[in-house]
Amino acid sequence: METKRNEEEGMASTALPSFTILSLLLLAASSCISAGTHEAFLQCFLKKTNSSSSASSSLIHTPDTPSFYSIHNATVRNSRFASTSGATKPTFVVTPKTGSDVQAAVTCGKATGLHLRVRSGGHDYEARSSYSNGDPFVIVDLANLRSITVDAAEGTAWVGAGATVGELYYNINAQTKKDTVAFPASLCASVGVGGIIGGGGLSAMSRKFGAAADNVVDASIVDVNGRILDRELMGEDLFWAIRGGSSASFGVVLAYKIRLVSVPPTVTVFRVNRTLEQDLSNLVEKWQKVSHDSSDDLFLRILTIAVGAGANRTILATFEGMLLGGRDEFLSALQNSYPELGVEANDLIELKWIESTLFFAGYPTTDTSLLLDRRPYRNRTFKAKSDFPREPISADAWDKIWKYLLDAVDESLQIIISPWGGKFEEIPEDAIPFPHRKGNFINLQYFLFWPDSPDEVNQKHLDFMRGFYDFMAPYVSSNPRATYFNVKDLDLGTNKIGNTTYSDATVWGKNYFRGNFERLARVKALVDPDNYFWNEQSIPPFSA
Ligand SMILES: Cc1cc2nc3c(=O)[nH]c(=O)nc-3n(C[C@H](O)[C@H](O)[C@H](O)COP(=O)(O)OP(=O)(O)OC[C@H]3O[C@@H](n4cnc5c(N)ncnc54)[C@H](O)[C@@H]3O)c2cc1C
Ligand SMILES: *[C@@H]1O[C@H](CO)[C@@H](O)[C@H](O)[C@H]1NC(C)=O
Ligand SMILES: *[C@@H]1O[C@H](CO)[C@@H](O)[C@H](O)[C@H]1NC(C)=O
Ligand SMILES: *[C@@H]1O[C@H](CO)[C@@H](O)[C@H](O)[C@H]1NC(C)=O
Ligand SMILES: *[C@@H]1O[C@H](CO)[C@@H](O)[C@H](O)[C@H]1NC(C)=O
Ligand SMILES: *[C@@H]1O[C@H](CO)[C@@H](O)[C@H](O)[C@H]1NC(C)=O
Ligand SMILES: *[C@@H]1O[C@H](CO)[C@@H](O)[C@H](O)[C@H]1NC(C)=O
Repeated sequence: METKRNEEEGMASTALPSFTILSLLLLAASSCISAGTHEAFLQCFLKKTNSSSSASSSLIHTPDTPSFYSIHNATVRNSRFASTSGATKPTFVVTPKTGSDVQAAVTCGKATGLHLRVRSGGHDYEARSSYSNGDPFVIVDLANLRSITVDAAEGTAWVGAGATVGELYYNINAQTKKDTVAFPASLCASVGVGGIIGGGGLSAMSRKFGAAADNVVDASIVDVNGRILDRELMGEDLFWAIRGGSSASFGVVLAYKIRLVSVPPTVTVFRVNRTLEQDLSNLVEKWQKVSHDSSDDLFLRILTIAVGAGANRTILATFEGMLLGGRDEFLSALQNSYPELGVEANDLIELKWIESTLFFAGYPTTDTSLLLDRRPYRNRTFKAKSDFPREPISADAWDKIWKYLLDAVDESLQIIISPWGGKFEEIPEDAIPFPHRKGNFINLQYFLFWPDSPDEVNQKHLDFMRGFYDFMAPYVSSNPRATYFNVKDLDLGTNKIGNTTYSDATVWGKNYFRGNFERLARVKALVDPDNYFWNEQSIPPFSA
């Protein structure tokens, strides 16, 4: 049901005739929420959780408690919003210990009209779990709801949505006491389970097992009416939507039940650096075919960045890979299909799968207890975007891309070039909302970072990023220009009319979800017709 449409002019798809096309990004209505509403929410929540006052409750934190600001930003991974004027902080932070505490937050929020934002790992690229563009809100931080129960016999696990991926990996290994049981969630260990599954979930094993959300078999959610529903009670439409379709639009997910996967007792990893002078453009051109067409057991990605100054300025490309298999097998696979990379036996490291998760998360150790450290290992001020080329990018084009990076001497822009193919090609595009399947060749992520700065400096970097995104357009998908939802980008579908910024959901909805956007909007209309679960990029309700 793809309809041709003009993104530039923000025209609505004809398939969605009665859609509200533009929604206010900067909510003018925010001033309508009064101090009375805040007090009403507080009293309602205290009553429902049997607390006599906010001072005696460990479940709600108000701005007059000294710890409020540190609780607020404890897990905000993108520090850009700490210095962005107009980034609104929460009215309260709620830290539920049980599902019924979450029910209380939803019931009171709905009754008083105060919105909630759910936070799992806090890694949202636009920090939408911790800030808003003016709309008053309460954070429901699920950090205490992170129990993980593995059923080794069934090959499944229930994981609390507030757990981090590192905690999940650690517990799978510790509870099964087997190095051959695993899960494909993400490369980064401090990402939250709630966000990663709610948006997809890409890991070093995606080519073998698909996205994290492809491996979910049940869930527990608090819906807008404050009920706790499992898969059977919520029905297949809602269960479909919360696997990659922005769970924040549909309720508060308490836990997901996942299907574990089998890996060999030994896997092999490597990481080597190459520079522009080592025929990088041809190397990357060749990599695309090798990485796309190789065995599903193989993962090989490239991270590139311009480094150095003057005559020393060059592109540094870090190639890193994993084979679900041993060193000899990996070496012969690489030497046969990709001799140009020049990987040697002593570049290859044999590990247990659980140790490989530390390798990709950037820890220079095999001490798996580090996976239990929930803190982000580095906070950064950043802006990111992602793209899906549908055919290989030529060596000539890579030359132009490197020149763009080399010329931008004031910018640190990393391009993460990831393989596609494998399992992604087998799963139908509408199986779950995550739509990036057959027809994509590789995945690109542009990650621009800079030191904490005032607004006007941030703006300069954001403008550079927009320019780079325009520059990349000829090499990537179009109509829609597909983007990974977990690389959230508030620029998409955003237009300024006068002094007011509007967000066109039919633009970003197609960027993120392609043909699945319409079904998401219909499910939204079924389960949350009044659009209580709202944020700057939540699915709008649509009923035909
Ligand atoms: C350093 C870094 C590394 C990353 N690495 C990877 C990677 O390897 N692979 C990959 O696929 N992605 C990766 N990401 C992107 C990541 O998947 C997304 O940012 C993801 O949304 C983060 O989830 P979170 O729970 O940590 O974030 P949060 O900010 O807590 O949540 C993200 C969004 O989901 C909503 N949400 C969270 N929990 C729930 C819930 N229980 N119910 C309803 N809504 C909820 C939030 O309200 C918010 O809108 C990375 C991000 C960062 C910052
Ligand atoms: C609050 O107390 C009531 C009555 O004792 C009880 O039914 C309810 O479960 C309690 N709620 C919570 C969240 O503890
Ligand atoms: C947390 O808050 C402090 C004080 O406002 C601020 O300096 C810091 O940058 C914030 N950190 C993040 C990650 O937002
Ligand atoms: C690759 O380059 C990075 C960044 O300069 C450096 O930290 C790392 O040690 C290098 N790795 C190897 C194997 O040389
Ligand atoms: C290039 O690097 C070399 C070796 O580190 C250094 O001596 C030289 O000054 C650098 N040149 C420039 C222009 O930075
Ligand atoms: C990231 O920011 C949080 C909140 O400011 C802080 O607790 C944490 O220590 C920071 N991490 C690093 C590595 O700076
Ligand atoms: C738009 O913003 C400018 C600068 O802040 C201000 O001078 C002008 O009055 C605003 N216009 C409207 C219509 O609000």
